[in-house]
Amino acid sequence: MGYRLTRRSLFSASASTVAVGLAGCASTSPAASAEAIGAFPLDPQSASLFGPEPGLSLLSRNENPYGPASSALEMISASAKKGAYYTNDEATKTLAAMIAERHGVAPEQVVITTGSGEALSALALIYGPKGPIVAPRLFWDTTALYAAKLGMAEIIRIPLTEDMDIDLAGIDAAITPETGMVQLCNPNNPTGIATPGSVIRAAVAKMAEKTTVVVDEAYIELVDDEASMTCVPLIKQGKNVIVTRTFSKIYGMAGIRVGYTISSAETAAAIRSTLMSWTPCTSIAAAIGCYNDTGFLDYSKSKIVEGRQMVTQTLDQLGLSYLKSQTNFVYFQSGLPANDLQKAMAAENISIRGQYMDYTPWSRVSMGKLDDVEKFCKALPRLIKA
Ligand SMILES: Cc1ncc(COP(=O)(O)O)c(C=O)c1O
Repeated sequence: MGYRLTRRSLFSASASTVAVGLAGCASTSPAASAEAIGAFPLDPQSASLFGPEPGLSLLSRNENPYGPASSALEMISASAKKGAYYTNDEATKTLAAMIAERHGVAPEQVVITTGSGEALSALALIYGPKGPIVAPRLFWDTTALYAAKLGMAEIIRIPLTEDMDIDLAGIDAAITPETGMVQLCNPNNPTGIATPGSVIRAAVAKMAEKTTVVVDEAYIELVDDEASMTCVPLIKQGKNVIVTRTFSKIYGMAGIRVGYTISSAETAAAIRSTLMSWTPCTSIAAAIGCYNDTGFLDYSKSKIVEGRQMVTQTLDQLGLSYLKSQTNFVYFQSGLPANDLQKAMAAENISIRGQYMDYTPWSRVSMGKLDDVEKFCKALPRLIKA
């Protein structure tokens, strides 16, 4: 551990902080004052409070280790100096206006949230009490489960097709006048499959005649052709559709926590009134800094695609089956139960996802730094033969 945060260090630190204070803070750098209270990672290489443990290949959480962009880091540093103050409305409105401009909607139609998870939780709390949430059997269900645990939602899961696609016709058929909302994820997690834009938009437009449809587009910036795949055009046509997006994936800011929704202005007002947190000024600043940083976005995507090709090449060489992913993760069958492969990988200091529901043969690996992806690719043939 690089952190020395013990009772003793805290007590002696308090004393030294006083001494530092008396000596005059002007000559003390922020790092030195953090070190004086025992909170600073004295050896940053071995620090593990933030980010993966040294030596661990973290390939289980669909993060993007190429972020944050330097354009985001500069804004974090500048805004942190104003951290004594609550986030100004103007900052949030500036980010909303940037997002609105790119998508061709009014700023009132955009809600900034603390990660898209907050937005999806708010939506589950708004629509869950009205009736069941209808969703594919496999989707990113954390927020629907959150509302379900509070007794505020029931989830109706519709089986995937034989090809592990979302069964859009089945979901449509399951909608009744009692349905609270439909929740879709495109591309889907954990399958990684992207439903083509024309297909999903036609289905969602039909569903939205009957109920509210939420489309979680957390990974959409990673697909081959984002513009053709998004459901935002349906919102512009006045359909009852809400799209959620995040800065956690392509922007590489999972720990910084910014997401947003696009919907009608009326729905946006309802979402705003249901949020539980104020997004930190540093997070808003970071998002403003990198939202239009195309150099960083292209770089990030190229690295993720390169990692994905390394993984699929390895799977091809081993003759293993996998789903065609347009995201930063691949869902594949190794021949071992997912939890066994996860355990074997963990013994090699590689973290991948374990089993989802009863999908025993299916494992999910996320793209990380290319060195880490390579470690996974080298370990896999050995571990499946062991
Ligand atoms: C499909 C999907 N949606 C939403 C989220 C939530 O992301 P965040 O709250 O970081 O924006 C995740 C997280 O992994 C996800 O996989």
